[in-house]
Amino acid sequence: MSDATRIPVGEGSGSAYDVVIGTGLLGELPGLLGPGVERVLVIHPPALRATGEAVRDDLGAKGFSASVIEVPDAEEAKSAEVASFLWGLLGRSGFTRSDAIVGVGGGTVTDLAGFVAATWLRGVKVVHVPTTLLAMVDAAVGGKTGINTAEGKNLVGAFHPPAGVLCDLAMLETLPPKDFVSGMAEVIKCGFIADPAILDLVEEDPEGVKSGDGPAVRELIERSIVVKARVVTADLKESSLREVLNYGHTFAHAIEHVERYSWRHGAAVSVGMVYVAELARLAGKLDDAVVDRHRSVLASVGLPTSYRGDRWPELYAAMKRDKKSRGSILRFVVLDGLAKPTRLEGPVPSMLLAAYAEVSS
Ligand SMILES: NC(=O)c1ccc[n+]([C@@H]2O[C@H](COP(=O)([O-])OP(=O)(O)OC[C@H]3O[C@@H](n4cnc5c(N)ncnc54)[C@H](O)[C@@H]3O)[C@@H](O)[C@H]2O)c1
Repeated sequence: MSDATRIPVGEGSGSAYDVVIGTGLLGELPGLLGPGVERVLVIHPPALRATGEAVRDDLGAKGFSASVIEVPDAEEAKSAEVASFLWGLLGRSGFTRSDAIVGVGGGTVTDLAGFVAATWLRGVKVVHVPTTLLAMVDAAVGGKTGINTAEGKNLVGAFHPPAGVLCDLAMLETLPPKDFVSGMAEVIKCGFIADPAILDLVEEDPEGVKSGDGPAVRELIERSIVVKARVVTADLKESSLREVLNYGHTFAHAIEHVERYSWRHGAAVSVGMVYVAELARLAGKLDDAVVDRHRSVLASVGLPTSYRGDRWPELYAAMKRDKKSRGSILRFVVLDGLAKPTRLEGPVPSMLLAAYAEVSS
């Protein structure tokens, strides 16, 4: 396990854990599960059957009583029906407080696995093995878990920090390019809100970054996880600091809603970041160069920077419903200069519309 990097999360909180990054990391799993675990349920989506079974076999060879279960693909996994099915399975398998769940998959599987672990016997251990870029740099780190209901995404959930996160970079080799590029939006977000070296790395080799096999990819992932780890360690239960991670997300959620979730999350976040950069410029906080840098760095890896110009009433209504707004006042995370996130509360409608005009294609 020579090449692994360990990034601590939640130090000093009583629920500290490591994110381990490298290649060929399966051997690290027992260490992350910790002592006392007998039974392990490995949860995976259809696309990762072979990986899920390999994790089960490896744990079995090391003396665990390991079983594996396939859940439906993508958002279909994050349902009360699937959670209920898994609770039944845990009950029939005699899972106790000292047993554990391992989620192998994208953010949908880590959210589901975390939620089931949070709720079974009021909380058993979970270790995440994220297999998408988004899950590695975002969903698997920080302890937020959840499922969807008919009324909307992530409406039911719990904070339940994992016992560990294992980012095996070899997993990304099979990830479809569009999913990789979508995850890159969250990486670039970390660059703008906290670590501009991320932006430099992307600008030095956009093609290598876009393809996923450039030399900078591992460093980009590690730096992004450090950003998320720092923010969630300082704010374990999402009081206010964590809001900075929602940079670009208010407008992004509105696009996703208007497009009925046919847009990839990262693509929507990309346009959302350009939108709040324009808002910040209009509010006198950001200069032209930083706003232009948003467009150039995002476009260089194939992310969109504009959206259709005939959807303002729907977008505005969706933003007003967003859970990040307080009462009827819209609030946005904006930059007061590179890597200096702040909040913009209640911008006047004409300013919101002017920023929309700037991102309209
Ligand atoms: N808990 C949090 O803090 C948090 C943060 C951000 C996002 N999320 C959640 O994450 C979810 C999105 O996650 P996602 O973008 O990873 O989507 P996803 O889990 O749906 O994965 C995308 C697709 O790629 C497939 N896949 C995954 N890994 C693969 C691999 N290595 N090779 C081939 N195919 C692979 C999946 O089966 C799926 O079809 C959303 O539900 C979102 O709410 C949670």
